[in-house]
Amino acid sequence: IKRFLQTLGGFTLLSAGTVATFYYFAQKDRTPGHQLPHDPEKKTLVILGSGWGATSLLNSLDTSEYNVVLISPRNYFLFTPLLPSVAVGTLNPRSIIQPTRYVTRHKARQVAVIEAHATSVDPVAKTVTFEDTSEIQGLVSLTTINYDYLVFAVGAEVQTFNIPGVKEYACFMKELEDAEKMQRRFLDCLESAAFPGQSQDEVDRLLHMVVVGGGPTGIELSGEIHDFLEEDLRSWFPELANSVRISLVEALPSVLPMFSKRLIEYTEAQFKQAKIDILTKTMVKEIKEKSVVLQMPDKSIVEVPCGMVVWAAGNTGRQVTRDLMSKLPEHQTNKRGIVVDDHLRMLGTDRTIFALGDCTATSYAPTAQVASQEGAYLARILAQIAKADNLESRLHALRSSPETPESKAEITSIGRQLNRTRKLRPFEYSHQGSLAYIGSDKAIADLPFFNGNLATGGVATFLFWRSAYLSTLFSLRNRTLVATDWIKVKLFGRDVSRE
Ligand code: FAD
Ligand code: NAI
Repeated sequence: IKRFLQTLGGFTLLSAGTVATFYYFAQKDRTPGHQLPHDPEKKTLVILGSGWGATSLLNSLDTSEYNVVLISPRNYFLFTPLLPSVAVGTLNPRSIIQPTRYVTRHKARQVAVIEAHATSVDPVAKTVTFEDTSEIQGLVSLTTINYDYLVFAVGAEVQTFNIPGVKEYACFMKELEDAEKMQRRFLDCLESAAFPGQSQDEVDRLLHMVVVGGGPTGIELSGEIHDFLEEDLRSWFPELANSVRISLVEALPSVLPMFSKRLIEYTEAQFKQAKIDILTKTMVKEIKEKSVVLQMPDKSIVEVPCGMVVWAAGNTGRQVTRDLMSKLPEHQTNKRGIVVDDHLRMLGTDRTIFALGDCTATSYAPTAQVASQEGAYLARILAQIAKADNLESRLHALRSSPETPESKAEITSIGRQLNRTRKLRPFEYSHQGSLAYIGSDKAIADLPFFNGNLATGGVATFLFWRSAYLSTLFSLRNRTLVATDWIKVKLFGRDVSRE
């Protein structure tokens, strides 16, 4: 009995300690401290975007050195790797977003967060024009501000290749609304198929889900749809479950070109087992209201009836990016995006515009990993630039006042410091590996291992995938929400009500 009571006491103490620590950090998150106001003496740093690049920058940035203004049509950060899980109801949409003000309210100096689209940048006048395009607007909804430094991190938009019907009939998988729309559409297809008197042909059409693009987005989404089907729909729609078909269409000879051959084969085998059809060397030519037109490997054209098409065929630059690039035609000629130097400075400008993430054309893949490392790097560079700017101001002040032996010595010392501070280290990307979920509680991972590569797939990799993304989520709040959603789905299954 004594030993039992001791164990119970120890366990209670441990639990109380865990709850107290959790409560402490949660409260710390909720109660930001005092912030310095904007200072007219400081330079204005305007950040466009609130995605991976911009949020990573904000997280690491010392805002005491700048008056920071963040402009983005989204007043939150979206954790894109878990977006396909939202599309099938594994995760709640709110679990994978973090309001940008949760970050900015903890900064030393106030950061102005403005929910608006940047519509144009003038690199000569150093101005940004932005517009409130949300449903509700005040009397002022369009304005222009000046910047000293600009960080361009607006990401990319979905590439449609102007294929007819894509914009009208397909769902995308890029923004939170896309995932929510897909979930509604999918459930609508199921409910319509369950409508009394529906012919088998029409049931088959309604329950044929076509995913276009065999990149990681298309693969992860197909895996998630399959999980939803096997883990939940089979119980709630037993008469329809066998009619659900998932087809993945990819124009190239194989899916997931960025993964090693072994993992591509593993994914293809897993999809075969899960009865997900992979159609490679097949190109979508048109999307119609109730069908998709495919060009098959033998170049024949086939029209396939379907209930839903999800378009995950890659990205292209945004209009605001193209407009800015067109103002610097000599240097900005790369169709993939903004060309930057080793320090992420946009070529052709006077070193005051930085660009990062998916809106740039670099030797790195357009991934969250790259954008977030670039953001953290830029925070260090901007700290160094602020230091150099401060030293220059001091030097200017000393040089404009009468010379004394002390001021002469200080000028020499500042000169030396300035030389050191102006030397910026170039950005170096450190690849941490590629991970993708492929459904059925399995994931694949290509991880750097010593000087080689470790290619692994299966259930253990899935657990690694989950823990990796849980730890990458930016806040304790989001980690808790996502972990709770996973537990809820394991206990009660996914919700099949259509909002
Ligand atoms: P984004 O994160 O897209 O942010 C762009 C920001 O700019 C947004 O806040 C947007 O609202 C804002 N914006 C847009 N227009 C304007 C404007 N006119 N003015 C001002 N602001 C504007 N990468 C990985 O490394 N691992 C993964 O597992 C992974 N999974 C993914 C899953 C999905 C479904 C998707 C779609 C992508 C995934 N990616 C993943 C890729 C990753 O999300 C992108 O590479 C990353 O988001 C790029 O970061 P970014 O900051 O350049 O752009
Ligand atoms: P993607 O560009 O990687 O893949 C799109 C695919 O669609 C391509 O393989 C292309 O051949 C195919 N395609 C294009 N047009 C087509 C057509 N008409 N018919 C048939 N197929 C067509 O796009 P994705 O998957 O959205 O990824 C974008 C970026 O985000 C990539 O850099 C990727 O690495 C990253 N990402 C990473 C993830 C991860 O690491 N787990 C998850 C999701 C995205």
